[in-house]
Amino acid sequence: MTTKPSDALWVDGPFPLVPTPVKRPGLKNPDHFYIEAATDMAQAHNVIIRGLNAIILQAPNVPNSSEEGYKPKDVKDLLSFVQSWTKMVHHHHDVEETYIFPEMAKFSGDPELMEGPWHEHRLFQGGLEKLLAYATATQPDEYRWVGGMKEIIDSFSKHLTDHLYAEIDVLLSFGHFDSEGYRKLWIGTHAVASSAGNLRQKLNMLSDVFPCVYGCNDKTYEGGHSWPELPWIMPYLIKYWFAIGNGAWRFCPSDWWCNPRPLTFAPRAKGQNGRADRA
Ligand SMILES: [Fe+2]
Repeated sequence: MTTKPSDALWVDGPFPLVPTPVKRPGLKNPDHFYIEAATDMAQAHNVIIRGLNAIILQAPNVPNSSEEGYKPKDVKDLLSFVQSWTKMVHHHHDVEETYIFPEMAKFSGDPELMEGPWHEHRLFQGGLEKLLAYATATQPDEYRWVGGMKEIIDSFSKHLTDHLYAEIDVLLSFGHFDSEGYRKLWIGTHAVASSAGNLRQKLNMLSDVFPCVYGCNDKTYEGGHSWPELPWIMPYLIKYWFAIGNGAWRFCPSDWWCNPRPLTFAPRAKGQNGRADRA
């Protein structure tokens, strides 16, 4: 059951979420794996979109050093959340370019199969890097939403979200693949991707990327979908070990079990400054 408050602003906007492919009416060959693959990818893309919306909706309500109510820790945590979100987006596209796209090209016999999505990645990569650099180097006293982070996000967010919608349509055009072969390929690439990296990189992922994935997921979305397929213990490990004491996760729109929750730094109704105690 969702805990999302029906009348409250939540992270299903301003950028709309991707409709779940498996729930779309009229798709050909409904038992074919291409629909499951597109659905899997749509869940990941919606995590990215919710995270982006969480930043866009909440950052303007975090007072900066020239405003009343300024708390350096809130700004530090916001910048830390932005860093984690950026790393999560980088990781997603890195896995695609390193494992998924090449394997799909080989499987289909068409070396240019995923050229379109690959080129779309180039359109927002620079902006993402700029955002990561800003969130990493900026001291809380120097941080500004307008005249700082907002302009960087505005420079690439449309390219990013256009790509996140378009790639699902590309995956939904693969109904002619051999279904079982495609399933094996898909599962195989995920296994390779999750075992990549040294111990230090894996630990960084657990304290950075994974909390962002769980905290930006919504398992109730469009009637519910079980994703990500990771061990049941993962939310417990995140809550009681990897995420403990990290205030950045206050910006997540969901709890560690992927249930929507009210935004911590949500804009308040008119006449209120929206900056009450959020310690
Ligand atoms: Fe993707």
